[in-house]
Amino acid sequence: MISSTTPSPLILAIETSCDETAAAVYSTEKGVLSSVLFSQIEMHKQFGGVVPELASRAHIEKIDFIVKEALTTANVSLNEIDIVAVTNKPGLPGSLLIGTCFAKALAGSLNKKFMGVNHLEGHAFSACIENSIPFPFLCLTASGGHTSLYIVHDFGNYTTIGNTLDDAAGEAFDKVAKLLELGYPGGPIIEKRAALVNFEDFFNYPRSKIKDLNMSFSGLKTAVLYDLVKRGAYDLQTKTLLDTSDELKNKVASSFLVCVANIFVQKIKQALIDYPEAKAFAFVGGVACNKYIRGVLSDFCKKNSINLFFPSPKYCTDNAGMIAFVAAYKAERGQFDDLSLDIL
Ligand code: KG4
Ligand code: ZN
Repeated sequence: MISSTTPSPLILAIETSCDETAAAVYSTEKGVLSSVLFSQIEMHKQFGGVVPELASRAHIEKIDFIVKEALTTANVSLNEIDIVAVTNKPGLPGSLLIGTCFAKALAGSLNKKFMGVNHLEGHAFSACIENSIPFPFLCLTASGGHTSLYIVHDFGNYTTIGNTLDDAAGEAFDKVAKLLELGYPGGPIIEKRAALVNFEDFFNYPRSKIKDLNMSFSGLKTAVLYDLVKRGAYDLQTKTLLDTSDELKNKVASSFLVCVANIFVQKIKQALIDYPEAKAFAFVGGVACNKYIRGVLSDFCKKNSINLFFPSPKYCTDNAGMIAFVAAYKAERGQFDDLSLDIL
């Protein structure tokens, strides 16, 4: 990506926007040299979701260790690093502050170049880490905090063309799993349950009526809830699941998953009509780990002769490799920040 006449800087990237403490070392010549993380999932599991205060505390405990591990794995010393990059927006403020303060302290004390990176830009370009994707491409980011459609014109240049109007898709997986008492995070468990009943659509939950490229997942979650109530399987007053049978849980999980995949296909179909200049489609973010949705989107793209790209799972969920990748093209353009950079 960097021309051969340009010296190839080494980048240390730090990501702490939510519940993963992550660090990566990236060489503009060789790509990702290391991408390591500590996931706090086990800690947040018992609360059914991320507890911001606990997330910040865990970042403080782990960040030094994770950064050292990223350097060791890459076989690079801190002195050899040229640029320190950090996710400074958007995310949980307390969590962002830990990574940003740590990165500033490193950059300031060791006199390294410094920059902030937008977490969503990291996701949007995450499929480019391992693939050469032609511009402009259509991108669907579906994670626990965000669900958006973009037209990506070039590195660092993208236009948002659709957004969730309420919950993110991953959040809906988490909430439906909570409703079914399946645990956290919901995505992988819902996928496993749905596989047990062959991804059949038993309950045909209402599809989105939104005509433009925006989406809604809160309505779907509510539809699942009221359908359970109608079946006498959920008591709204005591907020209790009355029918705890595996049969019902698997059927709900499967019907919900099929509905989400359907919403994505509907939106991508429309986006490709509205933006015929799109030369490819990238599906990214934590929800892009889902093999069933990947399959449905693959079939759709094959039928419509559009090239489809996914990041490998380690670059779908939050990671610092994607932050380092964005930092590399920002560095090429001299887009550095000073140490007064704030979180957003
Ligand atoms: O990208 P990510 O790690 O964090 C955010 O930026 O939010 O995404 C986490 C989200 C969670 O909501 C989780 O349930 C969802 O990604 N997820 C999945 C799968 N694996 C993780 N959703 C559906 N199917 C999966 N296999
Ligand atoms: Zn994310």
